[in-house]
Amino acid sequence: MSEQNTGPENLNWDDLGFSYRKTDYRYISHFKNGSWDEGQLVEDNTLELNEAATALHYGQAAFEGLKAFRTKGGDINIFRPNENAKRLRQSAERLLMAPFPEERFIQAVKEVVKANEDWIPPYGHGASLYIRPLLIGSGDKIGVGPADEYIFTVFVMPVGSYFGGSLKPAHFVISDFDRAAPKGTGAAKAAGNYGSSLMPASKAKEAGYSDAIYLDPSQHEKIEEIGSSNFFAVTKDNTFVTPDSPSILPGITRQSLMQLAEEELGLKVEHREVYVNEFDSFTEAGSCGTAAVITPIASITHNDKKHDFYSDTEAGPVTQKLYDLLIGIQLGEIEAPAEDWIVKA
Ligand code: PLP
Ligand code: COI
Repeated sequence: MSEQNTGPENLNWDDLGFSYRKTDYRYISHFKNGSWDEGQLVEDNTLELNEAATALHYGQAAFEGLKAFRTKGGDINIFRPNENAKRLRQSAERLLMAPFPEERFIQAVKEVVKANEDWIPPYGHGASLYIRPLLIGSGDKIGVGPADEYIFTVFVMPVGSYFGGSLKPAHFVISDFDRAAPKGTGAAKAAGNYGSSLMPASKAKEAGYSDAIYLDPSQHEKIEEIGSSNFFAVTKDNTFVTPDSPSILPGITRQSLMQLAEEELGLKVEHREVYVNEFDSFTEAGSCGTAAVITPIASITHNDKKHDFYSDTEAGPVTQKLYDLLIGIQLGEIEAPAEDWIVKA
């Protein structure tokens, strides 16, 4: 449910959930006649589009998701915005949209975060400021083809947990549907991928699960990803495993976890095809993403058979360590492996 009329002073930082909230400012830039205008912060949270905008008809729409955190010392830490800038450029290339320059992306994110500083959850509530950049074809094109005009916008909102609780294990079900085609747009953060996931996710939730997990769209033998996050598992011999597939989103959280698992925890890391018939060799499984953070997977149901992982109530030891490292880095309490992981607003 949307909550549009509450100011930050009335928010319960401990119970934010993950919902849209209109904050004070958003950034907007328009692409016209072959170039981006200089962009500005605005208060209006509506967009003006041509009725034949390609975003509405032909799916020229891609977005990003990243977070800013208030540290104990009062700083504002933005987590890896350069990676989101790069991924949005890659999505733009796949959907034939005008790319927004990466340096300007980072600058716009900083500006919006600063302008909405009062909305950043204070330190110590397990909450953060979710940042949603969006790139859409706004110009008309009625024959199927790319628009000549685009809008890039960035808005923010304070959020808590996505799957109902920080590090609270969740139950998932493997969907009979596919989210993306084998050589389709699965690796781009294209709006259409989420459109195709709405019905399967809704069926999963009606059946009592947190979300759907998708299998590879050609053979349906390998784990792809979750509707809103990536999949990882830890094997009995302490290997961190996460699927390699051309049709899944290359998540920035899992990229970070792969590095932390190897460099900080000394685990072997395998970025490879992951088969559903491997479940017995996993001691822990998890879902990871900007919104999901790290959500331990309590069970996965496939063809009416439920496979239990580490626990219904708590995170496994590796999942817990990775979570502590990730959150510690985001809050500036643990040194990041590279300087550009944290950008100050
Ligand atoms: N896969 C899907 C489908 C997602 O929506 C997300 C969320 O952003 C991810 C994976 C994880 O990506 P990231 O860690 O960059 O947020
Ligand atoms: C994110 O974590 O940024 C996502 O994209 C997940 C979902 C809210 C779409």
